[in-house]
Amino acid sequence: MMAMSLDGFVARKDHTLDWLNKQPTENEDHGFFAFMDSVDALVMGSGSLRTVLGFGDWPYLKPVITLSRTMTKQDLPEHLQDKITFSTESPEALWSIFGKRGYKRIYVDGGAVIRSFLQAGLIQDMKITVVPILLGNGIRLFGETAGDIDLELTSATPFPSGLVDLHYTVKGA
Ligand SMILES: NC(=O)c1ccc[n+]([C@@H]2O[C@H](COP(=O)([O-])OP(=O)(O)OC[C@H]3O[C@@H](n4cnc5c(N)ncnc54)[C@H](OP(=O)(O)O)[C@@H]3O)[C@@H](O)[C@H]2O)c1
Repeated sequence: MMAMSLDGFVARKDHTLDWLNKQPTENEDHGFFAFMDSVDALVMGSGSLRTVLGFGDWPYLKPVITLSRTMTKQDLPEHLQDKITFSTESPEALWSIFGKRGYKRIYVDGGAVIRSFLQAGLIQDMKITVVPILLGNGIRLFGETAGDIDLELTSATPFPSGLVDLHYTVKGA
């Protein structure tokens, strides 16, 4: 579940997300809580974790696994040390670990991490909220792929703010 500018960016180059708050979305339900209820755990990259740590409040009720070769528990405030685990495993290895834990549905969050799970064929569906703004540059959601990744549109829901929620399933994942 990601919010993306019309030109394909999920954050500015400096990781800021201020552009998301330019839209009047206060009275809109983009399904974040229902989606969070539907997953067993979250996987995110260290880039996204650093952003969330900057928010102050920890927003997730599910276990969070952070992929990082540079961060450790020592980088976390003490009250979050039992809520976040770090891993350097590949997406494929993680998927097998999750299977053994009984996790069936994982929320994959971030930019680079989403691309590596997509490349591994491990993303089954994508919820993307298109935000009516062109940022011109920033951190991209999608990048080069080894081949086509065919998608099927499941739903498209426009909102008064101008945001459009798109739900795709990934064919063959
Ligand atoms: N618009 C939205 O809805 C939304 C949602 C979530 C996040 N965001 C923002 O989008 C930006 C995404 O930035 P990003 O692409 O740098 O973040 P990311 O995917 O969250 O993190 C990437 C980092 O994860 C680590 N990593 C370890 N194993 C990896 C693997 N197998 N594949 C990929 N990365 C791996 C690497 O850092 P190490 O050096 O630590 O190993 C890598 O630089 C962030 O600013 C985030 O806050 C936006």
